[in-house]
Amino acid sequence: MAKVRICDQDDRTLTDKQEIAAYLATCGIDYEQWVPGHPVAEDAAAEEVLSAYAEEIEELKIRGGYVTADVIDVNPETPGLDQMLAKFNREHWHDEDEVRFIIAGHGLFHIHPLGRSVISIEVEAGDLIRVPRGTWHWFNLCADRRIRAIRLFQDMAGWTPRYTESGVDKNYLPVCFGITHLPHVAPAEL
Ligand SMILES: [Fe+2]
Repeated sequence: MAKVRICDQDDRTLTDKQEIAAYLATCGIDYEQWVPGHPVAEDAAAEEVLSAYAEEIEELKIRGGYVTADVIDVNPETPGLDQMLAKFNREHWHDEDEVRFIIAGHGLFHIHPLGRSVISIEVEAGDLIRVPRGTWHWFNLCADRRIRAIRLFQDMAGWTPRYTESGVDKNYLPVCFGITHLPHVAPAEL
């Protein structure tokens, strides 16, 4: 289940599912947990994963006007991983909702609702998060540098990041609760 931290002056952590969903809803973020229609391995083929969650995907497509669903797979061996991550770890927004259902691995979203405390949401397998278009946010992987997720799109072209250039992201350490974000560095490398 996701873990949510409300940063800044409110500094508190939410771990209860209902409490998380209720708080995120006040920020315009949808949070759900999905259970597959039939058992599916986390490394199953993309088509198999999409078929296991077909009911939820169809429902979400209708609700959000999404037309495409795919599976993204990122792991430490992914070529160009650091360049890819560097596009999303600065505060940005999209013309498109950012919808992710996590199949494996971990990720850390920071959300910056206007005039409100920044929140961090650590997601893991079973978590669905929908960040509406226009929401200021940024994303980091955790120390496992692995995430496999179903993505839904209204129009893939809208998913280009638009940077706020606020620099606010630098004020928040990308620390995951379960698994630290910071990669292990041997003393000799420091
Ligand atoms: Fe994004």
